[in-house]
Amino acid sequence: MSLIEVCNVWKEYGDTVVLEQLNLSIEQRAFVALVGPSGCGKTTFLKMLLSEELPSRGVIKLAGEDLSAEPTADRGVVFQKYSVFPHLTVLGNVMVGAELQSQSSAGKLFGRMFGDERQTALGQAHELIAAVGLSKAEDKYPAQLSGGMQQRLALAQALMARPKVLLLDEPFGALDPGIRADIHVLMRKLWNDRTLTIVMVTHDLSEAFRLATRVIAFDRRRNEPSDGGRYGATITRDLEIWPKREPTALDAFKSGRDDPQPLSDELRDDPAKTGMGP
Ligand SMILES: Nc1ncnc2c1ncn2[C@@H]1O[C@H](COP(=O)(O)OP(=O)(O)O)[C@@H](O)[C@H]1O
Ligand SMILES: [Mg+2]
Repeated sequence: MSLIEVCNVWKEYGDTVVLEQLNLSIEQRAFVALVGPSGCGKTTFLKMLLSEELPSRGVIKLAGEDLSAEPTADRGVVFQKYSVFPHLTVLGNVMVGAELQSQSSAGKLFGRMFGDERQTALGQAHELIAAVGLSKAEDKYPAQLSGGMQQRLALAQALMARPKVLLLDEPFGALDPGIRADIHVLMRKLWNDRTLTIVMVTHDLSEAFRLATRVIAFDRRRNEPSDGGRYGATITRDLEIWPKREPTALDAFKSGRDDPQPLSDELRDDPAKTGMGP
């Protein structure tokens, strides 16, 4: 079954058409990379998937239902700019993800958890923090972490709410190539192990082809200065990666480095270890 259905979606701001005539169906377990020139509407599209923006026309469905008008825990998001809370530790930041989910599922005003529920969530948080290689940094604050570590934390925080779909907006664009290669290995592992469906915006084509099961390009079919914003971007390419990437084919995946470092070598981008603060 398709997890996400985008039916004839347009997005306009005033007289300017940003996106037009988007039709797209995304299967469960897909890892979609979204590419396209700067300003073509990739972030706007992710914001519509998040319900941060509404389509001007058309409908988006998640698991068969129209998207709710408000962002909910069924969609997790990681932006390029670190989205973690500076005043909370690594553990505290990941627990926020659990509290968000608790809030949405139980309809509570405050997502604070107590007793067994909290113990269960703590166990899950420790496990997720380990999965992103941050166990040794559980008590650290974001300012004490490198950029790569902060993005791994943002991933753990987003995953803690068990989203149906994980939305990533150029999440690794600001990281050094070596660190990025390590995070690519981590991303494939998370996608493999956690039954995730992912939509990731990237401006890095090699990243798109390295990670995704499907690469979608947005662009304007017409883009003359005289057009005056009357034409928006739409889907101009839609490539299924061949041979087909299945979630279990993880062994076949190697990082892009000549000398790949195993993930067990956690925290190699830890400023506390390298002596190079953020
Ligand atoms: N809230 C807004 N009001 C008006 N124009 C906007 C708004 N948000 C985005 N845009 C415009 O929509 C276009 C697409 O922006 P964006 O989705 O950020 O592109 P991308 O992520 O592909 O670089 C840009 O021209 C931008 O200026
Ligand atoms: Mg953008």
